[in-house]
Amino acid sequence: MNDEVVSYEIRERVGIITLRNPPVNALAPGMREGIIDLVKAANEDPAVDAIVLTGAGRNFIAGADIRQFGKTRAVTSRTSAAAIEASEKPVVAAMDGYCLGGGLEHALACHHRIATPAARLGLPEIKLGIIPAGGGTQRLPRLIGAAAALDMILSGRQAGADEALALGLIDEIATGDLVAFAAGVARRIALERPLRKTSALTAWRTADREKPEIIEMARQAAARKKSPLKAPGYAIELVAASLSVDVDAGIALEHDRFSELEDSDEAKALRYAFFAEKTAGKIPGIAKPPAGDGVRSAAVVGGGTMGSGIAIAFADAGIPVKMLEATPEALKRGMERIRSTYDARIRRKRLTPAQMQERLARIEPASRYESIGDCDAVIEAVFERVDLKMDIFGKLDVVMKPGALLLTNSSAIDINVMARATKRPGSVAGAHFFAPANVMKLCEIVAGDATTIDTLGRAAAMGRALGKISVVAGSCDGFAANRSRAPLVTEMMLLLEEGALPWQIDKVMMDFGYPMGPFAVSDLSGLDVSYDTRKRRAAADPDYRKLHVPDRLVEMGRHGQKNGAGWYRYENNDRTPRPDAVVNQVIADIAREFGIPQREFTDEEILHRLLFASVNEACKIVDEGKSFRASDIDAMWLNGFGFPRHRGGLMYWADCIGAPAILYQVQAWHERYGKRWKPSPLLALVAGENGRLREAVAPETAFLPALVPQPSTHATK
Ligand code: 3HC
Repeated sequence: MNDEVVSYEIRERVGIITLRNPPVNALAPGMREGIIDLVKAANEDPAVDAIVLTGAGRNFIAGADIRQFGKTRAVTSRTSAAAIEASEKPVVAAMDGYCLGGGLEHALACHHRIATPAARLGLPEIKLGIIPAGGGTQRLPRLIGAAAALDMILSGRQAGADEALALGLIDEIATGDLVAFAAGVARRIALERPLRKTSALTAWRTADREKPEIIEMARQAAARKKSPLKAPGYAIELVAASLSVDVDAGIALEHDRFSELEDSDEAKALRYAFFAEKTAGKIPGIAKPPAGDGVRSAAVVGGGTMGSGIAIAFADAGIPVKMLEATPEALKRGMERIRSTYDARIRRKRLTPAQMQERLARIEPASRYESIGDCDAVIEAVFERVDLKMDIFGKLDVVMKPGALLLTNSSAIDINVMARATKRPGSVAGAHFFAPANVMKLCEIVAGDATTIDTLGRAAAMGRALGKISVVAGSCDGFAANRSRAPLVTEMMLLLEEGALPWQIDKVMMDFGYPMGPFAVSDLSGLDVSYDTRKRRAAADPDYRKLHVPDRLVEMGRHGQKNGAGWYRYENNDRTPRPDAVVNQVIADIAREFGIPQREFTDEEILHRLLFASVNEACKIVDEGKSFRASDIDAMWLNGFGFPRHRGGLMYWADCIGAPAILYQVQAWHERYGKRWKPSPLLALVAGENGRLREAVAPETAFLPALVPQPSTHATK
C-alpha cells in the first residue's frame, strides 16, 4: 500500500481511512488500491466495527486525477467504489471542501454520508466531455431521484451542504471536528443491519413517477442546446438505464460509454482547456498569489456600458465598489444601467429581488475623486481618448492611497502613457474586461514597462476574486487578446471583397462551434465602434489596408442591431439576423469599383483564412514576449471570445491541423496577399521541428524587467 497517499488508524473500534494528495486530494495512483486494501483489512479485523473514509486537509476528494486520463489504470473508481459498498461493516463518508466526480462516487457507495457546512458536492465530469465512471450515473439517481440526478450530472454544478441534505445526498451535516463526528456516527450505526446500500434503492421518486416523461424532457432540452458533445446524451441514456435495468447492468453500460469518451477528441480538448486556464493563472516570478493583500474595496471611473458592467462584477463578487462619473446625469444613467441589468436577471429568475438589493447596496455612486481615494483598486473605464485618460490618471495619482492599484480598462491605449501621467508607474496596469464585463470570464491583466510584479499579481488576484480567468499580457497594440483576434476580423472583411457573404462566413463559424457568427456579433456590438479606429489607423499608416465594406455600411448609416440594419437587417424589435440584399449589392459594388475578382469559397477555406491569420499573429505575440505562453492565448479565446471549448482553444486547434500544414498555407497566402500574411518566425520554428504550437513559451524576455527568466527559447517538445 502507498502510505504517502492513504493512511489508516483505529480510533475506539472505528477504522479511519484518510486519503492524501494535496491540494485537492485528486485520486492519484495508489489511492483506490489503498481503499480496497484497507476496507478489506478493517472487515477482517475483529477490533474494528465500522469504517470512516475521509480526506486529509480541507477537501474530501476533488475527483479522478485528470492527468491520469488516457493512461492505463490498475484499478478504477468503479472497482474501489464497489469494494466500499460490499463492505460488511458500515462505511461512513466524512466530507469537507470539494467532494467531486470520483470523490462523490466513492461517497455514494458508502453506507452513510456526512459533510461539513463548507462541503461542495457535484459530478463535474460533463465539463470534461466525459460521464461519471465510478457508478455515479447509477447510484446518484437511486439516492436522490432521477430528476435531481439529471440536473446535477448534466450541469456539473456543485451543491452546498444544505442543498445536499435537502436532496438526500448526505445524511447529516457535521458539527465540530469532522472525523470525530463521523467516528461517533460510525459507532452509532455499527451494528445496524441490513446496511444501507445505495445500489439497492430505486431511482423512481414520487415526484418522478408523477412525471414519467422526465427522460424525454431531458432529451428534448439537450437537443435544443445543440451541444456538439456526446457526453450529455450518454448521461441521459444512463440515468434512463438507472430507472429500468439493474445496477450491475447500468454500471457496465456506464463503463462502456466512459471508455468510448475518455480518449475522444472532445474530452482531450476539454482537459487541455482545464489545464490551460490553470496555467494562465501562473505568473513567472510569483510563487503563489499574494496572501492577505487582496482587493477589498474598489472604484470604477466611468459609468458607461463597461464601467457599469465592471461595477456589477464587483458587487456580484461581494466586493463594495464606488462608481465615479463626471456629471450627476451620467451617474444617474450608470446606476439605471446597473439596475436594468439586475432587473433582467430577476425576469430570467437568476436573481431574487432581495439579492438585487443586497448587490445594489454594494455600489456607491460617487461624484468627487476625493471620495474614492481610500479604495484598494481603481479601474478607469472611460472613452478611448488619450488626453482624457492621462487627465484621469493624474487625478488618481493625487487622491488614491499609497499601494492602491491604478488600473485601466483600455483596450487600445498603451499602458505606459497612463503610467507616465502618475508618479507611481509601478502601480499602473491594465485590467481589460470583455463585454459584457459582468458576464465574460476573461480579465486581461496588462503590464506596462514599469508595472511591478506585485501589482501584476494583485491585479490578477483581483480578477480571480471576481470569478474571472486572469491572463497576463504585455502592452502593445490591442494587447494579446484583441491583437490575436484582429487578423481574423481583417480576413473576414476581405473575404467579402473576394466574393464570400456574411451569412456564409457566420454559418461556417457556427458550424465550427461558435454560439454566434462574427458578423452577427459585430451587429450586436455596433459597426460604428471600430470605424473611428480604422480611420485613425489609415491616417497614421499609408500602407494600412482599408476595409471598404464595413466602412461603406457605416457611412450608409447601418450601425447594426441598434438601428435595425448592419450586416443583416432586423425587423420589429426581433433580434433574428436576416440576410439583406442591400449588403450583397454593397459587396458587389465595392468589388467592381476596386477591380477585385469574385469567386466561391469552400467552408474549409473560410475557416482556415480566418483562424490561420490569428494563429500566425498569436505566434508573433508569444515570440515578442507579449504573452508568457501560447496556451495563455487559448485561455483568452475561450473566455473572451466564445471560442468553442470542445476545440481546446486557437493554438490547440492549430495543433490538430499541424504547424507544418499551417506554415505551408500561410506562406502561400503571403505570396498571394502580401505582408499581412508574413509568417511568424515562431510558427516557422515550431513547424520545422514538427512541434506543438500550444507548448510554445516566450523566449527569455523583456516582458517585464523584474521577471525571472523564462525557460530558454521555445519549448516545443
Ligand atoms: N486532477 C488533477 N489536478 C487537479 C484536479 C483533478 N481532478 N483538480 C484540481 N487539480 C489541481 C489544479 O490543476 C491545481 O493545480 P496547480 O496548483 O498545479 O495549478 C490544483 O489542483 C488546485 O486547483 P485549483 O487552482 O483549481 O483550485 P480551486 O480551489 O480554484 O478549485 C476545484 C478547486 C473546484 C477542485 C477545481 O480545481 C476543479 O474544478 N477541479 C476539477 C474537478 C473535476 O473535474 N473532478 C472530476 C474529475 S473526473 C472524475 O472524477 C471521473 C470519475 O467519474 C471517475
